[in-house]
Amino acid sequence: MKKIKVGILGFGTVGQGTVKTLIDNREEITMRSGTDIEIKKIAVKHLNKSRAISLPSHLFTDDPYEVVNDHEIDIVAELIGGIEPAYSLIRKALENGKNVVTANKEVIARFGRELLPLAAEKRVDLYFEGAVGGGIPIIRPLKVCLAGNKIYSIVGVVNATTNYILTKMAEEQWTYEEALKDAQLKGYAEADPSYDVEGLDPAYKIAILASIAFNSRVDVDKIYREGISAISPIDIIYADELGYVIKLLAIAKEENGALSIRVHPALVKKHHPLASVRGVNNAILVHGSSVGRVMFFGEGAGSLPTGSAVVGDIIDIARNINFNCTGRISCTCFREREQKDIGDIITRYYIRMKVVDKPGVLAAIATCFGEEQVSIASVVQKRRVNTSAEIVWITHPSRESSIRQALARIERLPVVEEISLLLRVEE
Ligand SMILES: NC(=O)c1ccc[n+]([C@@H]2O[C@H](COP(=O)([O-])OP(=O)(O)OC[C@H]3O[C@@H](n4cnc5c(N)ncnc54)[C@H](OP(=O)(O)O)[C@@H]3O)[C@@H](O)[C@H]2O)c1
Repeated sequence: MKKIKVGILGFGTVGQGTVKTLIDNREEITMRSGTDIEIKKIAVKHLNKSRAISLPSHLFTDDPYEVVNDHEIDIVAELIGGIEPAYSLIRKALENGKNVVTANKEVIARFGRELLPLAAEKRVDLYFEGAVGGGIPIIRPLKVCLAGNKIYSIVGVVNATTNYILTKMAEEQWTYEEALKDAQLKGYAEADPSYDVEGLDPAYKIAILASIAFNSRVDVDKIYREGISAISPIDIIYADELGYVIKLLAIAKEENGALSIRVHPALVKKHHPLASVRGVNNAILVHGSSVGRVMFFGEGAGSLPTGSAVVGDIIDIARNINFNCTGRISCTCFREREQKDIGDIITRYYIRMKVVDKPGVLAAIATCFGEEQVSIASVVQKRRVNTSAEIVWITHPSRESSIRQALARIERLPVVEEISLLLRVEE
């Protein structure tokens, strides 16, 4: 039986979940891969840190280049995170003819376009199942199982932190600040939560998924991004009364050859499959031409779930090494598609505003909407505070640029005190 040697960069949350999975399931993994997978070296930053898993000290090094330059190592698993030194280490490993597994969404979203062709040139594999959705299989299903489909759309709840916060706001009637604090106490949110709550993490993930699904390079910096910090408990209550829940969605759609890729909170109907994704779970709904709609659901982060994805990649590469066929699945971005501006999307909108409570106000606002080609599906006066009234409008599908023009005019009306929130409605 062929021996495959693995070098691991990083022994934190995912590194330890990967090693634990390799050790605990060794027998199954050996049978399934047809190879004997051995951990040759593990690079960490702090050699003296105490770890939950104890391993012989000779396995550890604080020089990651000792791993990527080791002639005996066949597969390097990069589990450090961030752009540097991860990007340079992956690059060096590929240049050295090593197969690479990574769970690093930033590096793949920003540099996949150069690293995947490099892997192809070197006839090695670069796999990254753990980079999106933690333990949920989604990269390989898109690249392999759904390869026969034209993909129409991918809509996902792909950030555990924000989904936990929104779930707590909906189910416990907590404010955003209370739910964030609880998420931080439970270890679901960082001390600086902006990476998650402002939507950067889901933007990296949807960039990766969209580039595979639509065979096009995606520029992360062109993805429209809006976080959840502006959502208040009252919006969750109003959404509920209207038959919706609020979710932070990562959306990628093909529309007349162009791509609409965006991350923002949205109202989804209570019976929508993504509405029931609670807490730290993630789910990704894919709509394909032949398969119809399929949803991938599970734990979107965590040590063992992400370790499961990393080990799956290692096993697949071990099989490829065994059959001398590494480098089969390479970069699939063979098209350049335009990324649509947010102003060009057409969807329905939820708009909450505060107005002076007197006759003729609704008509004045409705005129602004009408003159900007925005048609109204419903308007409800929700509550009265002193001389003000809170109004919620739901529009029919409208162009976002028209909505913005209408709101700019409405904001200038003397009877309008505040446009409190605009949310998109995802059907
Ligand atoms: N955590 C999750 O649930 C999750 C889910 C999906 C994907 N991911 C991705 O998985 C990757 C790893 O995340 P993580 O949560 O496991 O991170 P983590 O817990 O912070 O672990 C990072 C590891 O990298 C090591 N490290 C840092 N700089 C290093 C350097 N210069 N040389 C060698 N080792 C270095 C650290 O060493 P020390 O231990 O000595 O400090 C630590 O062991 C990231 O790309 C992340 O986005 C994470």
